[in-house]
Amino acid sequence: MARFAAFVSLLAAGIVLQLSNGAEVNVTDKEGKLCLYANLMVNFSVSYIAGEKKDTAEFELPSAVTTDGSECGATSSTLKLNFRDGHSLSLNFTMDGNMYQADSITFSYNLSDATVFPGSGSNETESVTVKSQITKVGVDTCYSCDSKDMIITDMVNMTLSSVLIQAFVSEGNKSENITSCSADSPPTTAPPTTAPPTTPPPTTQGTNATTPAPVTNATTPAPAPVTNATTPAPPPTPTPTPTLLPPNIGKYSLNSDNSTVCLLATFGLRIGIKQGETFQEMNLDANETKASGSCGINSSELQLVSSTMTIMLTFINDTAKFRLHAVNFTAKTGSGVDFNAVNTNLTLWEAAIGSSYMCNKEQNYTITNMLSFYTFNLRVQPFGITNGDFNTAEDCETDVDSFLVPIAVGVALIVLIVIVVLAYFIGRKRNMSTGYESF
Ligand SMILES: *[C@@H]1O[C@H](CO)[C@@H](O)[C@H](O)[C@H]1NC(C)=O
Ligand SMILES: *[C@@H]1O[C@H](CO)[C@@H](O)[C@H](O)[C@H]1NC(C)=O
Ligand SMILES: *[C@@H]1O[C@H](CO)[C@@H](O)[C@H](O)[C@H]1NC(C)=O
Ligand SMILES: *[C@@H]1O[C@H](CO)[C@@H](O)[C@H](O)[C@H]1NC(C)=O
Ligand SMILES: *[C@@H]1O[C@H](CO)[C@@H](O)[C@H](O)[C@H]1NC(C)=O
Ligand SMILES: *[C@@H]1O[C@H](CO)[C@@H](O)[C@H](O)[C@H]1NC(C)=O
Ligand SMILES: *[C@@H]1O[C@H](CO)[C@@H](O)[C@H](O)[C@H]1NC(C)=O
Ligand SMILES: *[C@@H]1O[C@H](CO)[C@@H](O)[C@H](O)[C@H]1NC(C)=O
Ligand SMILES: *[C@@H]1O[C@H](CO)[C@@H](O)[C@H](O)[C@H]1NC(C)=O
Ligand SMILES: *[C@@H]1O[C@H](CO)[C@@H](O)[C@H](O)[C@H]1NC(C)=O
Ligand SMILES: *[C@@H]1O[C@H](CO)[C@@H](O)[C@H](O)[C@H]1NC(C)=O
Ligand SMILES: *[C@@H]1O[C@H](CO)[C@@H](O)[C@H](O)[C@H]1NC(C)=O
Repeated sequence: MARFAAFVSLLAAGIVLQLSNGAEVNVTDKEGKLCLYANLMVNFSVSYIAGEKKDTAEFELPSAVTTDGSECGATSSTLKLNFRDGHSLSLNFTMDGNMYQADSITFSYNLSDATVFPGSGSNETESVTVKSQITKVGVDTCYSCDSKDMIITDMVNMTLSSVLIQAFVSEGNKSENITSCSADSPPTTAPPTTAPPTTPPPTTQGTNATTPAPVTNATTPAPAPVTNATTPAPPPTPTPTPTLLPPNIGKYSLNSDNSTVCLLATFGLRIGIKQGETFQEMNLDANETKASGSCGINSSELQLVSSTMTIMLTFINDTAKFRLHAVNFTAKTGSGVDFNAVNTNLTLWEAAIGSSYMCNKEQNYTITNMLSFYTFNLRVQPFGITNGDFNTAEDCETDVDSFLVPIAVGVALIVLIVIVVLAYFIGRKRNMSTGYESF
């Protein structure tokens, strides 16, 4: 850190990319290396005095911005986006160990810019500073938030959306890893399905979901931040931690070339992603998921693609048993940053070829140290399907019951032995008495 001569303010060389919506900037340090990246959309709504009356100006952060005044330090950085005639939006970042955050957002606006504030009676530059929601971002990750973050103050409302920001970029390379805001996590929900996965219609290729997906309040209103405007700020509302409903149950099937069903899978899936200190859960929306893949003799693949994620499940046929052998999971974010986790050495969902694997109970599987799968009403058969439907199930729950079977057998045996012994003694007694009679 000392090498970077902590806190030498480095003049930012603003490189401005033109985008249809929002502004994208790369701030570089004095060596020309990327040190701060931002791509975001902001809508402003500012009330001001025009002549005798109050007026409201509404405008967007244009894509044409400059980054003069931005600075990159070792533990503290500033992103300053200047636009039009003397307006700016600044974010102050600080780093603490393995986390960084934006401490505050300052918006300055030039009331004498008549193109933005027509009829403005003032020639002042006003500014408003608010706390930011960009907190607890893992170092070397990008903060990503597609959801709207609405900041309300007395005179100014700002709506941030499609935000992708990385401060403290190391080695000049933007990170592929992301820290998502909580508002982005729970897009999909479904009612709890109690029905066990019985027989799905095996005819269709691809997917059809069964459970209706009700509309839920997935997007929570952003909490109002504390402001330092003239009158008391609205009380900050606590960020609600979203609780996920069970995912809807997807029924996926694949056909072989001659259009016989060769792979069937039924399950609801929730994904847990752990990145640094942040843990995020999301449901696979079966209704929005397309299934594809291939069936083989020794290996079958099922690929599930939704708008936000791609999951490749590889099953292998290994000496009369099949199992889930590999998972390749990729989550796309709207901002274009991918999360990827792969494990090619799994032994899950194991059952005999010619039967299916079933687990109705919710199960929690660790795929990698960053990825877990929670399954609901699981049933899969990747090989040896006959009659276009699941064959007999090997139920994970019978494992729990299976110790009862030997006990039952043992009890039955003991009863049998007792009966045999009793029969022997009774028979002997009768024999003895008849013996006396006969001899
Ligand atoms: C910002 O404003 C534009 C039009 O002025 C609108 O189309 C867009 O949806 C707004 N975005 C947000 C996040 O409110
Ligand atoms: C800011 O938003 C609040 C709530 O939506 C609204 O009442 C107020 O008029 C808005 N202020 C401005 C300046 O747009
Ligand atoms: C504010 O806007 C006016 C008129 O557009 C311009 O002359 C002035 O330079 C601006 N102020 C700043 C600080 O840029
Ligand atoms: C700003 O406006 C005030 C009157 O409202 C005027 O006295 C002052 O000279 C103006 N300043 C500039 C720099 O235009
Ligand atoms: C980022 O992801 C890569 C794998 O894609 C991983 O090796 C690395 O440890 C991750 N970094 C952080 C900070 O999570
Ligand atoms: C799937 O989603 C579409 C639109 O998103 C909706 O019209 C349809 O009813 C849904 N189907 C089920 C089974 O949830
Ligand atoms: C608000 O601004 C005043 C000065 O205008 C300052 O003393 C005070 O610390 C600020 N409060 C907050 C919460 O930023
Ligand atoms: C379809 O192909 C499978 C092997 O791939 C074969 O066992 C089956 O008999 C074929 N069915 C028909 C109707 O051709
Ligand atoms: C599983 O693999 C064995 C050879 O290891 C093969 O004989 C058998 O046909 C395969 N089963 C299926 C359903 O493809
Ligand atoms: C995982 O899947 C992606 C495409 O979805 C592919 O580019 C990547 O190579 C795969 N990784 C492995 C280890 O198979
Ligand atoms: C696969 O996992 C087994 C234990 O589950 C382990 O013994 C083996 O070394 C692993 N193989 C690879 C290539 O990681
Ligand atoms: C799944 O397992 C992980 C690690 O064992 C645990 O942290 C997590 O709470 C579990 N989740 C559920 C829903 O059981």
